[in-house]
Amino acid sequence: MTASSTWPRYGKVTLKPFTEPLSETEWRRFYECFRDPEIAEWNGSRPLRMPLWLFKRVVMGEVGRGDRLGFGILDERGEWLGTVELYELTPSEATLGILIGAKDRWGQGYGTDAVKAVLEYAFCKLGLKKVKLRTYRHNLRAQRAFEKAGFRHVEKPPQTGLRFSLSLGPRHEFVPMEITREEWACC
Ligand SMILES: CC(C)(COP(=O)(O)OP(=O)(O)OC[C@H]1O[C@@H](n2cnc3c(N)ncnc32)[C@H](O)[C@@H]1OP(=O)(O)O)[C@@H](O)C(=O)NCCC(=O)NCCS
Repeated sequence: MTASSTWPRYGKVTLKPFTEPLSETEWRRFYECFRDPEIAEWNGSRPLRMPLWLFKRVVMGEVGRGDRLGFGILDERGEWLGTVELYELTPSEATLGILIGAKDRWGQGYGTDAVKAVLEYAFCKLGLKKVKLRTYRHNLRAQRAFEKAGFRHVEKPPQTGLRFSLSLGPRHEFVPMEITREEWACC
């Protein structure tokens, strides 16, 4: 299917809304990305174990929900690279999540372009005031891509009054980042 002129785009990428019909190849790439153990590890999740037919049903069930918007990331040739989503969506804010499943395409600017495309959509089409995210402290590639797209780190308030706390260790520490519409300043 050819990309619609209304789909968000930036630089090398076009974002295909999950509300559009996906081809079998796109579904398969989408699904394989969430089954990959390394990507799941970076994403702080577990590799998907459900069959493809159930995965499709779960995704389609979420498409109609008002608190979530998802897009496939397509490259210059329309090839599916991964997904970018806005979740915990309210009239003023959302949380961003992104996965590029094609690992041989990491580090070539696709992630940054996809984040910029979805931020443009969030601020200029949806009129959000702020987009947030959280990523692992050791995920320097993701933080660099988010910084290039305009995100900044947010200081976490110091935890007081906790004499004993359970810690999963530095490999599992999340860092928050955010960007406001004023900081985006392109619409
Ligand atoms: C995170 C992700 C979306 C970024 O997409 P990408 O296309 O690889 O990112 P980009 O190429 O736009 O930017 C990556 C930047 O990080 C840099 N980088 C790569 N590895 C790095 C490292 N170990 N330390 C510091 N910077 C690093 C790259 O050089 C590049 O910066 P540059 O353009 O200044 O050279 C993608 O790598 C991915 O899907 N990773 C697995 C899932 C994941 O981590 N998702 C985020 C969960 S919050």
